[in-house]
Amino acid sequence: MAEELIISTSTNKKERYATLVPQIQALVEGENDVIANLSNIAAALKQTMGFFWVGFYLVKDDQLVLGPFQGPIACTRINFGKGVCGASWKEKKVILVPDVEQFPGHIACSSASKSEIVLPAFKNSEVALVLDVDSDKLDDFDTIDEQELSKLMRLIETFI
Ligand code: SME
Repeated sequence: MAEELIISTSTNKKERYATLVPQIQALVEGENDVIANLSNIAAALKQTMGFFWVGFYLVKDDQLVLGPFQGPIACTRINFGKGVCGASWKEKKVILVPDVEQFPGHIACSSASKSEIVLPAFKNSEVALVLDVDSDKLDDFDTIDEQELSKLMRLIETFI
């Protein structure tokens, strides 16, 4: 396993992801512990992409429960269909929110959060967890984030 991340200094987001994604693949290779892998993925995303908050919510019974994350403390439980995370779980799809104040029912764990992207990972066709990434800037996520983070979700599906 790599002990140090190579961090691209490119101002081009696609290039930064291109440096990061193969390293995350290498990080989780040969390790099947879900919490260990999710922890390293959250840390690597925070360290290289500089996100305000990045973390996982895991489906446990009828709620999402906070999992490995990097950033300020966050809400621990989210109900099905509630907030952006609960909506992603319910609708089984990626949700990109350019302005959280415009998203009905958005759950504000931090008032500094301005935009957000949530992506689901599936196990046996059901959502097993979501990745939530928050920015303190408005409109900070786009289709590049969706495409690149989706690659990570497909990788996560290989060990959950
Ligand atoms: N904003 C999320 C809640 C999680 S925190 O942002 C970390 C939501 O609306 O689901």
